[in-house]
Amino acid sequence: MKVMSLKKDNIPAVMDLLSKGKPYVVPHHDYVYWIMAEYFPLSNYVVFNENKIIGFICALPSIDKQCYFIWQIVIDADYRGKKVATILVKRIIDEAKHNGFNKLELTINCDNNASYKLFEQTAYKHKGSLKNIGEYTYENSNEIAYSIEFCS
Ligand SMILES: CC(C)(COP(=O)(O)OP(=O)(O)OC[C@H]1O[C@@H](n2cnc3c(N)ncnc32)[C@H](O)[C@@H]1OP(=O)(O)O)[C@@H](O)C(=O)NCCC(=O)NCCS
Repeated sequence: MKVMSLKKDNIPAVMDLLSKGKPYVVPHHDYVYWIMAEYFPLSNYVVFNENKIIGFICALPSIDKQCYFIWQIVIDADYRGKKVATILVKRIIDEAKHNGFNKLELTINCDNNASYKLFEQTAYKHKGSLKNIGEYTYENSNEIAYSIEFCS
């Protein structure tokens, strides 16, 4: 498996992968992913297994909040449970540390146990805790906002 910065050519495969992660992730307009590839290549990564994209993480540095915000993460269903997401989240933490940030923020759908456990374990491994910092409700969904502070 190889982790690479998101490139413009990867966008169709990434959008296809995201469409299979419903309801917890959905593909947005391809222009959004073009922005990610062009302007945030060090916080947007794809994972290749041979020539196939099997994982994607989209994160953005927030100067205002002094953190990295993880917006989307998805792993191909055939490759889940193999720590691929763990590797991608670690990549964002390393990038955050490199730039002098010590905090992640993200939202998790209140029904998404797998994602909650992933980030709970991330917090534990980095000697932090998953703190509830708010919520965002839309239609029939409820996203809980969390922060994880980690040691630098
Ligand atoms: C959530 C998701 C990204 C996890 O990816 P993954 O590569 O399977 O996760 P990992 O293998 O790195 O798992 C790390 C830890 O997360 C937790 N975890 C992952 N999947 C889990 C599941 N189905 N049930 C419970 N805990 C789970 C476990 O604690 C696991 O550690 P362990 O294997 O030592 O028990 C993946 O299930 C996915 O793509 N889901 C659909 C999209 C989605 O929900 N994205 C998140 C939006 S916030």
